[in-house]
Amino acid sequence: MKNLILSIFVSLALIGCSEKKATPTAAPVDVSAGKAVAERNCKGCHGLDGGGGAPGIPHLAGQRERYLLASLNEYKDGKRVHAALKEMTGNMSDAEIRSVVAYYASLPPVANAAAKDIQLSSPYQEGKALAVRCAKCHGEDGNSKTPGTPTLAGQQAHYLVTAIEEYHQGDRKAAIMGSMLRGSKRLDLEKLALYYASQTPAQRAAPAFGDPVAGEPATAMCGGCHGAHGISIDGATPSLAGQDATYLLNAMKAYKKSRQNWGMQRYIAGLSDKDMENIAAYYSIQKSQPADVVPNTVKEVVEKCNRCHDADSNPAMAVPTMNGQDRDYLVMALRAYRDGRRQSSMMHNMSFAYSNAMIEGIASWYASQPADKH
Ligand code: HEC
Ligand code: HEC
Ligand code: HEC
Ligand code: HEC
Repeated sequence: MKNLILSIFVSLALIGCSEKKATPTAAPVDVSAGKAVAERNCKGCHGLDGGGGAPGIPHLAGQRERYLLASLNEYKDGKRVHAALKEMTGNMSDAEIRSVVAYYASLPPVANAAAKDIQLSSPYQEGKALAVRCAKCHGEDGNSKTPGTPTLAGQQAHYLVTAIEEYHQGDRKAAIMGSMLRGSKRLDLEKLALYYASQTPAQRAAPAFGDPVAGEPATAMCGGCHGAHGISIDGATPSLAGQDATYLLNAMKAYKKSRQNWGMQRYIAGLSDKDMENIAAYYSIQKSQPADVVPNTVKEVVEKCNRCHDADSNPAMAVPTMNGQDRDYLVMALRAYRDGRRQSSMMHNMSFAYSNAMIEGIASWYASQPADKH
């Protein structure tokens, strides 16, 4: 985490420097010429007032000039992928681009007409509400006290969603879980997973079977995937630390028989029943931790984002303001950063931890805010 913060500051410093060289005001810019360009090339989608004309089209009015200029150049260079914009910017001179950007930046922000219809969501709180149904088996906050029923607290969010889907598809057989949540929206599964991932797993006492001391050396080749002492740092690989020992034992046996998987069987095949008991005992008493400490509310996330994105942040930076921006556009932009379709190492780092559920929550929040004036 320290490294991430450090790298953000370093990047910020770098932005500060490089921007000084390429200032957009090197030559006087003709705003009225920019209006003519907008009339000819942009009006159909962005309107002459710069308010997004349809869902998915970003507002440009009042956006920072540096950011608009940087964006258009990125479309031109193919760093941001959009066929129509690439072709259009390819046919425009630098002067035309600079003037149309100055025109849109000079306009007052246009209120987001859809803002009143936007439902704010709080994925963590909604996940917590959904989890009430699971508590009688999986325990309060996901800490199971029932042998054979797994703890969900602290589990990797991505893995939890996959696990639930595997029960639905019949890749994992458990009558109870096969019908549980069947027909749920994927976003709801993500909310549940988000909630559980950030709960703290309880410390367990040694189980009635198995020898943890003998188990440890047998886990030598498990740690490469499941993490040191069974605390996974990979979203698709479950943590084993602090898990119920009976459940762990059942899971290993299931891989030998019926549980579908891409390759776990290979690592289990050579283990005797005694080995598996020892391994289960070892992992169950390891101290675990939450997989993800996600902020509990969208507002807490947004406070972090606003260190760069709010109206008061340094206007010399090519960082867009987002209050009142089109919701669908923000969802697409964040998914594009996360999934690597839009280049910005800074924003990729910032968004890659987020599920679609969190992204929708963040986008809705920004879209519902009054647009910044400057
Ligand atoms: C065919 C419709 C269309 C036309 C015409 C069009 N745009 Fe866009 N514009 C879009 C869409 C859709 C996006 C979002 C693309 C994406 O996801 O990157 C966009 C994105 C942008 C962005 C990036 C905004 C941001 O917040 O990152 C800028 C700047 C922009 N357009 C400027 C212009 C200008 C200037 C013109 C005229 C010269 C223009 N566009 C013409 C549809 C259009
Ligand atoms: C009636 C008891 C019961 C209820 C209620 C229940 N579960 Fe389960 N769940 C189980 C049992 C038992 C297993 C272990 C099945 C197996 O061995 O594969 C399990 C397994 C799981 C797993 C797999 C965990 C792993 O480490 O692979 C997930 C995820 C899960 N449940 C999520 C949920 C969620 C979310 C809810 C609430 C919507 C829920 N369960 C409700 C009993 C229950
Ligand atoms: C190459 C990576 C890799 C190695 C090595 C590996 N695992 Fe796994 N393990 C996984 C993945 C991925 C899953 C989830 C697969 C699935 O969806 O069924 C998993 C699942 C499991 C589960 C089920 C957990 C649950 O919550 O249901 C257990 C138990 C387990 N592994 C034990 C072990 C043990 C013990 C070893 C070493 C002997 C081991 N694994 C080695 C990747 C690995
Ligand atoms: C350290 C500064 C910084 C922080 C913190 C930051 N961003 Fe960004 N953000 C940027 C920069 C720089 C860009 C422009 C990148 C580019 O050119 O694509 C950007 C672009 C974006 C865009 C694209 C907007 C548009 O109009 O196309 C979205 C959406 C976004 N950020 C959301 C977020 C969210 C959500 C957070 C918090 C989780 C966040 N940002 C935190 C610097 C930051």
